[in-house]
Amino acid sequence: MSAVQIRTLESADVSAVLKVWNRALKRDPMNEGRFIGGVLCDADYWPGDDSGFFVAAHAGRPVGFLRAIIRRHSNDRVGVEPELGWIPVVAVDPEHRRGGVGTALMNAAIGHFKRHNRKRIWVCGNTGSAPGYVFPGVDKDAYAGGLTWFHKMGFRIDHESIAMARGTFDFDVAAFTAESRAGGTAVQIMGLTADRVQDFFSFLAEAFPGDWNTAARMKVRSGALGEVLIALLDGRVVGYCQWEGEHFGPFGVRPEVRNRKVGAQLFVEAVRRIRAADGRTVWFNWADDDVARFYGRFGLTATRQFAILVKDL
Ligand SMILES: CC(C)(COP(=O)(O)OP(=O)(O)OC[C@H]1O[C@@H](n2cnc3c(N)ncnc32)[C@H](O)[C@@H]1OP(=O)(O)O)[C@@H](O)C(=O)NCCC(=O)NCCS
Repeated sequence: MSAVQIRTLESADVSAVLKVWNRALKRDPMNEGRFIGGVLCDADYWPGDDSGFFVAAHAGRPVGFLRAIIRRHSNDRVGVEPELGWIPVVAVDPEHRRGGVGTALMNAAIGHFKRHNRKRIWVCGNTGSAPGYVFPGVDKDAYAGGLTWFHKMGFRIDHESIAMARGTFDFDVAAFTAESRAGGTAVQIMGLTADRVQDFFSFLAEAFPGDWNTAARMKVRSGALGEVLIALLDGRVVGYCQWEGEHFGPFGVRPEVRNRKVGAQLFVEAVRRIRAADGRTVWFNWADDDVARFYGRFGLTATRQFAILVKDL
């Protein structure tokens, strides 16, 4: 451990950090393009001594890293959340584990958070606020050792979330459509159109404050309106979902309109469209426990279970 130095991420570290990532986080491979997009292009990532991206270097070469995030820009209308910090990812090369490298990275991160007056740290975040999102939390099965380590570092499980999936080829659209309408409130489900964009954004800002707004704006800006559905009740937007290829979400219905099968009608139509666009599966990485029951009715099964952790400083 004495030969390991903790420092900020440097330009020339990228390929070595990616090597560590792919050796340590086997269930979540990372490539150069996504790393550059997700870290270096993130407006909250400021290169330099205060980047929060810590690298553990052994003989000058990265053998571990930890990303600690503080928001430098407002999370849509929610603000910069000045008391919060986030750790979206940490990894130590398998050959260098159990020698205190992870602990040294965590100590550096905690120092960083304290300098920035943070009171509560999340691994990795919550619905509406998960900056630097890679996965919702620690995969309890794939990274069981990582979970033990976080406990040792003083984190506790706040709640859990699950990833789910199913094939689309045998998704019975007719049966599920009938079921989703029976006993529910009839709403108009439609693809997002230019003349509804503003209503859609107003609905999101009010019903789902935070980073879903950013995700929706990115989607609309990309021009892929065909991957957004809205639900209208008496002409008012009461729910929506978006997806990317086979990757479903985010997805939400106004709290006061829940339990009236609006979500079911949205989901069935989304799967129909995903399949029509040649999607063979439908999957998502993040549903809080209670929402998982909803998807179970449509034959999705759990593929991963995540622990969302918290530590108060
Ligand atoms: C989690 C991880 C970063 C820990 O790195 P590390 O350098 O091995 O951690 P440390 O040496 O500082 O461990 C400190 C203590 O934590 C506990 N601990 C660490 N790894 C553990 C494991 N696999 N099983 C049980 N306890 C563990 C031990 O008490 C250890 O002290 P000890 O070795 O004296 O018993 C590393 O295991 C890793 O990269 N895992 C894969 C990636 C991952 O799980 N990331 C989390 C998802 S973001």
